[in-house]
Amino acid sequence: AANSMWGGRFAGGADRVMEAINASIDIDRRFYRQDIRASQAHAAMLVAQGIVSAEDGAAIHRGLDQVLAEIEEGRFTFSRALEDIHMNVEARLKEIVGEPAGRLHTARSRNDQVATDFRLWVRDALDGLDERLRDLQAALIGRAEQEAGTLMPGYTHLQAAQPVTFGHHLLAYVEMLGRDRGRLADCRERLNESPLGAAALAGTSFPIDREATARALGFDRPMANSIDAVSDRDFALEFLSALSILAVHLSRFAEELVLWCSEGFRFVGLSDAFTTGSSIMPQKRNPDAAELVRGKAGRVIGDLNALLIVMKGLPLTYGKDMQEDKEPVFDAVDTLDLCIAATAGMVRDLAVDRERMRKALSAGFITATDLADWLVRELGLPFREAHHVTGSLVAKAEAAGCDLAALPLAELRSVEPRIHEGVLSVLTPEQAVASRVSLGGTAPERVREAAAAARERWL
Ligand code: ARG
Repeated sequence: AANSMWGGRFAGGADRVMEAINASIDIDRRFYRQDIRASQAHAAMLVAQGIVSAEDGAAIHRGLDQVLAEIEEGRFTFSRALEDIHMNVEARLKEIVGEPAGRLHTARSRNDQVATDFRLWVRDALDGLDERLRDLQAALIGRAEQEAGTLMPGYTHLQAAQPVTFGHHLLAYVEMLGRDRGRLADCRERLNESPLGAAALAGTSFPIDREATARALGFDRPMANSIDAVSDRDFALEFLSALSILAVHLSRFAEELVLWCSEGFRFVGLSDAFTTGSSIMPQKRNPDAAELVRGKAGRVIGDLNALLIVMKGLPLTYGKDMQEDKEPVFDAVDTLDLCIAATAGMVRDLAVDRERMRKALSAGFITATDLADWLVRELGLPFREAHHVTGSLVAKAEAAGCDLAALPLAELRSVEPRIHEGVLSVLTPEQAVASRVSLGGTAPERVREAAAAARERWL
């Protein structure tokens, strides 16, 4: 049978394959709430502008409330033949209220409608993610406070570099997540303009009030250009970009958890709740949740790429290609909802092995920089020369199979005769960490201040 929505021009129905490729209802039914809300705002505006009668407006409003209730209560039958959420809702509205339903689509197109719905949905998703990120920051800050004085090796090139505190390391992620939240807030700000009233692409001859619908839907203002309004998907791209960066942050942390609970490190233990065993090796405890957070980051980055590639060759304005915009966005949001929650769970359950971390500091001559700094400060050596002297001392310690702090003073003097006892105050990891009091540094007192500041700023 011909389509009831545009049957005027069509005699035959769609091929079965056409229906399958064309229908988006399985995906976009997810924003039924936004669709109904936007339709109600549009209808109210049509009434206020004298374009639709108050009776018809009231019937539409009531009918849409009923459609909403039917969907929420699972009593609604979605139809692929009706393509998408917009047509499904409107068709049901017609069954409920009859003729007035046909007036709802005055001065509107699915092009501005879908752009409006999608922005509303992304806006809600942004707010939800911000809340979850805040919770993850809370978990990290809480841990950082407990571990403000816990010494561990800091790494560059994954080689032991300088001692830091575990709390300091955790707070690094709090900062990254703070910028992620900032990116989401920026994205929200730019996307919060209303496409509604752009109609198909050119605007409309009806005396509509775009300011009113924008306000009713919580947008800051109407979008300025009707062509841009129906063509733009950069709000979705910007959102996915921010989510991809966030996913990279979560993935780096997940990778560190995987490393830290591996046999070579054993700095932390993950709880039963976030690990699995092996079906063959009884001794195993695998960090699956962390690995999946790391793996799923690839998926989110893929979602961004999928939409970038869909959009890059499209002429203005709307093309059906753009119907492919929703799935990657929904997928990225669902994926990150899980990843953020799993990360927060792992952080809260983490068993920290302070002794193992401290022991790891006795390898790698981790206070070599402190020794070089001491030579500069106390003996007035140029840093390059101090670096050289320290290098020779590291070689000696290596040959002797001991740590720098364990080298006898005579050995130290054999390389640089002016070295005196004072040097013993900088050679332990405790001393090294305590001395790094510069702003943003790893000294425990600074870490405690930083945790308090982060609490103030982000929670
Ligand atoms: N389901 C469509 C989408 O998501 C709605 C817009 C359809 N517009 C059109 N001109 N066919 O993109």
